[in-house]
Amino acid sequence: MTEPRESLPRHVAIIMDGNGRWARQRGKPRASGHQAGFRTTRDIVEACGKQQIEALTMFAFSSENWNRPQKEVGLLMDLFLRALKSEVSKLCENNVRIRFIGERSAFQPKLRQEMDNAEALTRDNTGLKLAIAVNYGGRWDIVNAAKQLAVQVREGTLEPEQIDIDTFSQHVSLSEITEPDLFIRTGGEKRISNYLLWHLAYTELYFTDVLWPDFCEAELINALDFFAGRQRRFGKTGDQVKGGAV
Ligand code: IPE
Ligand code: IPE
Ligand code: MG
Repeated sequence: MTEPRESLPRHVAIIMDGNGRWARQRGKPRASGHQAGFRTTRDIVEACGKQQIEALTMFAFSSENWNRPQKEVGLLMDLFLRALKSEVSKLCENNVRIRFIGERSAFQPKLRQEMDNAEALTRDNTGLKLAIAVNYGGRWDIVNAAKQLAVQVREGTLEPEQIDIDTFSQHVSLSEITEPDLFIRTGGEKRISNYLLWHLAYTELYFTDVLWPDFCEAELINALDFFAGRQRRFGKTGDQVKGGAV
């Protein structure tokens, strides 16, 4: 097993982008890009476990991705279903706990069932905490939290004055794990695309032109090296953070 690095992110959040362009560069249909992207996802989950990262959150399908051609959406759903069926035993073997964030009511019952099943089967695993964001949107997440708090206020169990950042944080997705330390987006775009809007407030952002199917352990290590070189100040001065003047 690899020695823990000196400055390792506890939680890494990834936007896996560039499958379509990877396929186009090879004169192949977009489907083959998604298939190749799936293989990368599998490898990177394993690599993160090996690097002793505690939590990994991956964006697989955004709430806006429904706007793609129906054929591509169908294909992604098929791939997702097949991947769930084929991978769950491997996740168990590797002690990975998987769960899904996003609005799952939009999915077909058999897909929802596989998602529930994968979560239940891996629930007690103590290794990497893997979250897959599907039909996820950062704005949806924030609205959902606001809605839950509004219900509590209506029911009289919460006073509006009690709502603060901590209370709010408890109602967004991933509330029980530490916020992402490192964000990685492959595929060259420098945007957040409605990913973890609430959670990324102080995350270190890493963008690479590498297309997701070409992302590999060495590329992950480049991102970890980038992270190790950051000074996280959280509003303080550099000297304060270094333990100097306060
Ligand atoms: C990311 O790759 C996968 C999903 C959004 C499902 P893309 O399909 O967005 O690939 P590009 O951006 O078209 O290359
Ligand atoms: C973001 O990628 C969503 C996922 C990787 C699942 P997109 O390819 O959908 O993002 P935009 O549309 O280029 O912003
Ligand atoms: Mg894209």
